[in-house]
Amino acid sequence: MKVTACRKAHFNAAHQLININWDEKKNKKIYGVCSNPNYHGHNYDLIVKVKGEIDPGSGYVIDMKVLKNIIEKNIIKKFDHKNLNIEVEEFRSLNPTAENIAVVIWNILRKKINKRFEIQVILYETERNFVEYSGE
Ligand code: NI
Repeated sequence: MKVTACRKAHFNAAHQLININWDEKKNKKIYGVCSNPNYHGHNYDLIVKVKGEIDPGSGYVIDMKVLKNIIEKNIIKKFDHKNLNIEVEEFRSLNPTAENIAVVIWNILRKKINKRFEIQVILYETERNFVEYSGE
């Protein structure tokens, strides 16, 4: 009997969408205002899902305090109020689209959350636009 425990988190960050192999015209065509060289920000909402068996002792899948701390220490501290292109190592050579941010977050969390759990990351870049990644 598996249950999914979910934790919401939030961070603000700036980015510029750019493919360095394309000229300015093509970047502008594909990314529109998101290719602005002076950057722009988003209020990102993050949902981390942890799926596993209920521990018969605690009645929990995972202690939410533990999950909260893992997210804060490894994701929020790293991303919140940062310029993703400049200040977050992973995006020095990776375009910080919501898709790529979700993959980076998943990869970080995968190393920090016990392997007996399946994990999924949902990242909202705006209220209406969000991506999901579960390591496949
Ligand atoms: Ni953007």
